[in-house]
Amino acid sequence: MTDWQDVCGIEELKDGERRLVDLNGVVVVVLRVDGQWFAIEDVCSHDGDSLGDGPLEGDRIVCPRHGARFCLRTGAALTPPAYEPVAVFALRLADGRVQVRDDRW
Ligand code: FES
Repeated sequence: MTDWQDVCGIEELKDGERRLVDLNGVVVVVLRVDGQWFAIEDVCSHDGDSLGDGPLEGDRIVCPRHGARFCLRTGAALTPPAYEPVAVFALRLADGRVQVRDDRW
């Protein structure tokens, strides 16, 4: 298991904002949505395009390219044309900082 990686200060990311971070070579988008925090891989499982700029629908993110929806909590693909999940990552708030960890193995 790897260590926690610092992303930014909690107050640096306002509600609805996002921050990209490189986590062990994987680009992860960290989001603050309605006071909740999520960390999800920035790659759509449909066609490999970036997911992070997509519009939000509650705890879902919509791929800006073809409109597939993914659950921010689980990474599950919820609507076509994506059928495979994307990775989600552990996130914690500690000492005023946002931190993520790669728990996929
Ligand atoms: S690249 Fe995301 S739905 Fe096609």
